[in-house]
This record gives sequence, C-alpha cells and structure tokens, in this order.
Amino acid sequence: MKKFLIEGGYPLKGIINISGAKNSAVALIPAAILCDEQTTIYNVPEISDKNDLIDILKLLNVNVTEKEDTLKIDAQNLENTEIPSNYACKLRASYYFMGALLGRKKEVKISFPGGCDLGERKIDLHLKGFESLGAKIKEEDDMYIITAEKLHGANIYLDFASVGATINIMLAAVKAEGTTKINNAAKEPEIVNVATFLNNMGAKISGAGTSKIIIEGTKKLHKAMIEVIPDRIEAGTYLILGSLIGDNLLIDNIIEDHLTALISKMKDMGVDIEKTTNGFRITAKKEYRPINIKTLPYPGFPTDLAQPMTTLLTQCHGLSIIDETIYARRMGHVPYLNKMNASINVKEQTAFISGPTPLIGTNVKASDLRAGASLVLAALKAKGTTKISNVEHILRGYGNIIEKLKKVGAHITLIEED
Ligand code: EPU
Repeated sequence: MKKFLIEGGYPLKGIINISGAKNSAVALIPAAILCDEQTTIYNVPEISDKNDLIDILKLLNVNVTEKEDTLKIDAQNLENTEIPSNYACKLRASYYFMGALLGRKKEVKISFPGGCDLGERKIDLHLKGFESLGAKIKEEDDMYIITAEKLHGANIYLDFASVGATINIMLAAVKAEGTTKINNAAKEPEIVNVATFLNNMGAKISGAGTSKIIIEGTKKLHKAMIEVIPDRIEAGTYLILGSLIGDNLLIDNIIEDHLTALISKMKDMGVDIEKTTNGFRITAKKEYRPINIKTLPYPGFPTDLAQPMTTLLTQCHGLSIIDETIYARRMGHVPYLNKMNASINVKEQTAFISGPTPLIGTNVKASDLRAGASLVLAALKAKGTTKISNVEHILRGYGNIIEKLKKVGAHITLIEED
C-alpha cells in the first residue's frame, strides 16, 4: 500500500507550477474518440486517472501516443464499444465514454462508474439527456446498455447544473441530427475547455460557460488540437497551502478568474496575496479571521476546495463554518483532522471549525481525493510526523505532488508499507 510520510513545520519557498486540469483532461480524452482522425491534447496532467482512461482507449482499439504532457489520440480504428467494470470502476470520468461512444457509434455497453465515495452520485440526468436525444437505455448486471438508431436534437432541462451531465450530453449531441439546447447547464471552465475542443473538431457549440448551451449537430468531425486549462482546484489547494506555511511561495500558471470565490474568501480571512503576471505569491501570517463558506456550482465556492480549506480554517481565530451543498457525504477528512488535534464538529453536511488549534502529526487515512489533499496540508503544517495511507486517491488527481512539494522545501516521501 502506498503511503505519504510527511514531517511538518517547514516553511515552503519557491515556485509551484500548476498542471492541466484533471476535470478537463478526463473529459477531453474520451471526447477525442468522436473524431476518426488524430487529435492532440497538450498540457495533460500526470495523474493516475489519465492512465486509467488511456487503458480504456486501448481497450477500444484506439491508438494513443504519449510524449511528456502531450497525448495524441487516433480513433480511426475504434471498434469495441463495451467497457467492463474493471475498467469503468477505476474512475468517475469513465462515464464520458457513454456520450462519446453514443455520438460516434450509436451504442455503448458500460459498467457503473467509480470515483470518490461522496454519497449517492446519481447519473440520472445524463441518462435522461441521452433518452431525449433518442437513445434507449437498459440496465443489465450493473451494466448500462445505451443504443440509438439515430440521435436527434432536443430541448433539455437539467434539474441540477451537473458538470458530468452537461459534458456527456454535449458529447452525444454534437453528432445528433438537428439542434440541442441544454438549459440550466453547468458553467464550469472545464465545460468551456471541452466545448472548445469539440468546436476545434468542427462541432457547432455556442453558449458554453453560460447556463444555456446550444449545439447544432454535425455529421463528421475532423482532427484538432486543444490545450488543457490550468487546474483551478490544484491551484486553490496550493494557494491554501501557501496561506498555511508559505514563505514567499509563488503559485504559478493560474487563471485568476477561475478562482474568484476562493481568493475573495482568502482576502476576507486576511491572507496577504500578491498578484504576479500568471499567479500569486503568498507568505503565511500568524493570525487569520474566521469565515463562513457555502459550496455552490461555479462560479460559487467549489466543493472540491472545501476540504483543503477546512485545514486552513483550523488556524483561524474563532469559529468558521463550511456548508457543503453539492454532495451528501463529503466530510471524510474531519475525523482525521480532529485526530491531528483540530476541533471540528459536523452536523449533517455542515462543519463547525473552532480555531486556532496547533496540528500534531499522527497516522491518518485519505478517504477520498480532496480529503487526502486536506490531510497533506495539515501534515505539512503539523508538528511532528504524519503518515497518510490510501494515497492512491491523492495520486488520482494531483500530478507530481511529491516532486512539486519537495522542490519548495517540503519533507514528504512516498513509501510502500502494508
Ligand atoms: N447529480 C445527480 N444526478 C446526475 C448528476 C449529478 O443527482 O445525473 C448530483 C450528484 O449526485 C452530486 C451533484 O449532482 O450530488 C454534483 O454532481 P456533478 O454531476 O456536478 O458532478 P460530477 O460531474 O459527478 C464533477 C467533478 C467533481 C466535482 C463536481 C462538482 C469530474 C470527473 N468530477 O463531478 O470532482 O466535485 O463536478 O464540481 O469532473 C474532484 O475532483 O474531487 C471531484 C469530485
């Protein structure tokens, strides 16, 4: 089992470069199979989710070449349309092969997706969207069988502005006959990145980044290139780390607009952040004001940053509150932060954080990706040594985390231990 061994208390100095966004890359890779010519994706993060998606591409007989952070994907000879559970359950984003295969081949048989356990993560809106486009859906032995004689445009309303449903419907609708409208679409920057890639292939999508996306179906898509946008969640995680133990720490390659909610909250706390050309420079302060946060769909405060933020709030003077509204269960980090001497009470999906409490190193477990990130931050701040188990979750989403942290002075190593 892989674990992180972290000796806390060392200030971090230097530059952390932000990689391409996980949640864009994991949609761009499946999107590439919509086209039967070679596509190129630049700035792909070095995360295990990427490797799991490449395994699925190979299973579908898609040719993939990888050189540094560039992926070339050639789906000319794509033939298989079935993705069994040992492939699909490795990550959430395997579900983007539903929309992509439906668009390209009008059929897909795929097992339920995996990913972090954050409570019930339904995909009813994806399925309802596919049905509106003319697909038939059967569930057999934990597999979805989705087929369509032909896909047609539709006027779709999402009950919730789901990132996954918006992207998945877009992937299928680009190859439908006629016009599709997605109303109450999610507005996350990753959706714009995927729409840009599809438009580069010849799709006709407008409105991505707003709550109404319009897609004119196209018969054939052609070769194209795209660059993955910087990861706003990775950037946010390291900005929070800088607020905890930064000593002139520069977080570089950030799109500031994607982090407005976090930066506004950090300013409310009293964090000193200095804007640079492409990033922010941070030096930790001794005292921060407590704040209240409510997670919301973009451009609201991202649920994916609420867990790392919890660690910082343990250092504020007074009571801070985080209200998680997107997921039914996203407090897996709290018992372990408390084991590290934090003082956090949870009522349903609201965390009440009393601070400041000095954090103390101990053995903890990453229950999911962002819970793991919150524990890495706590361990780097804590007195003594922390051992974090289940770090596979963290490696799914934070590219080169050990190298990046070591380079700025962190004492962190990856160990193998039962
Ligand atoms: N939901 C439904 N029905 C659906 C789809 C979603 O009820 O058909 C509910 C979910 O149960 C959940 C909420 O809506 O409570 C949010 O789901 P959404 O579809 O927006 O999220 P997602 O597409 O499953 C992506 C990211 C998540 C991120 C969310 C919200 C990927 C692969 N995952 O998930 O990332 O939290 O959007 O921004 O893009 C992470 O990176 O740690 C992570 C969990």
